[in-house]
Amino acid sequence: MSPFQITRTLPKDATGAALRADVLSGLTATPKTLPPKWFYDAHGSELFEQITELPEYYPTRAEREILLDRAGEIAAASGARTLVELGSGSSEKTRHVIDALTGLRAYVPVDVSESALIGAGEALAAERPDLEVHALVADFTAPLTLPDTPGPRLLAFLGGTVGNLLPDERTVFLDSVRALLAPGDALLLGTDLVKDEEVLVRAYDDAAGVTAAFDKNVLSVVNRELGADFDPDAFAHVALWDAENEWIEMRLRSLAEQTVKIRALDLAVDFAAGEELRTEVSAKFREDGVRSELRSAGMELTHWWTDREARFALSLSVVR
Ligand code: SAH
Ligand code: AVI
Repeated sequence: MSPFQITRTLPKDATGAALRADVLSGLTATPKTLPPKWFYDAHGSELFEQITELPEYYPTRAEREILLDRAGEIAAASGARTLVELGSGSSEKTRHVIDALTGLRAYVPVDVSESALIGAGEALAAERPDLEVHALVADFTAPLTLPDTPGPRLLAFLGGTVGNLLPDERTVFLDSVRALLAPGDALLLGTDLVKDEEVLVRAYDDAAGVTAAFDKNVLSVVNRELGADFDPDAFAHVALWDAENEWIEMRLRSLAEQTVKIRALDLAVDFAAGEELRTEVSAKFREDGVRSELRSAGMELTHWWTDREARFALSLSVVR
């Protein structure tokens, strides 16, 4: 049997073409923006794993606590034979669900980071030769075709990554998730919760500077892939709480007036001193909002669990 296979659902140059399109539209807009999916080359994925271990970054530990406590309930409620995971990264926390799902036949991790998928997929396949591990290198904001594996399906979207989508993108995304599922299938969704501003800002601006390096990594990705000449030291990492939108925003602030050249686009981008480029939003949620967004997408929230300090929530919803 072949326990681990990896499928690239994107044509060879699709990633490059998508990056070019995002950089062109984002760096010629006012204010300038870049989508967060471009953080995650092999180095960015490694930096994210370091973030998950920082004392200030509580979401990973809080979600792991819930998964450890609730894996049995999640397994009993879903009875899944296929577990699909979007933005699976290292799949580290997911192991608790995989271990609890006694009837599980297939695990389908989906991520833009091929290095993360290979690391996680090979380790899992070696430990669980009984499990079909079918990894997909794919963008979860684009239409997805899942492999033909047995139902019922449980679709997991952990870590609070749903908060990295803007509200309009989130609506489209949740509709597309619903379209991947059949009645009786379930969604396991991790959402970080609204809390004290100081705790939130510290989680995104740690003392050791790992999040700053993660933020600036997007500039290195554009330098390497599109022949740009960003100097990461000419930008400062900024994390701020937007109380109206209830999200953390990460930005890169230009420390001086400067012009950056992007060879592959034949483009010169001017930055004023102090001008900021938005690289990520990380929305924080409340139970009512999550319930109502899921209901609008055709899913009914049946379970809502938080960690003991009520910092993070995991919800289970069924497809109507
Ligand atoms: N689920 C893991 C990893 C979260 S980090 C955890 O909870 O720790 C976010 C993950 O989503 C990264 O592995 C990143 O590569 C992936 N990702 C981000 N945007 C994506 C997109 N548009 N399509 C697919 N994967 C994406
Ligand atoms: C992946 N995602 C949920 C992380 C977050 O917390 O929004 C990405 C991250 N950005 C900075 N630190 C971690």
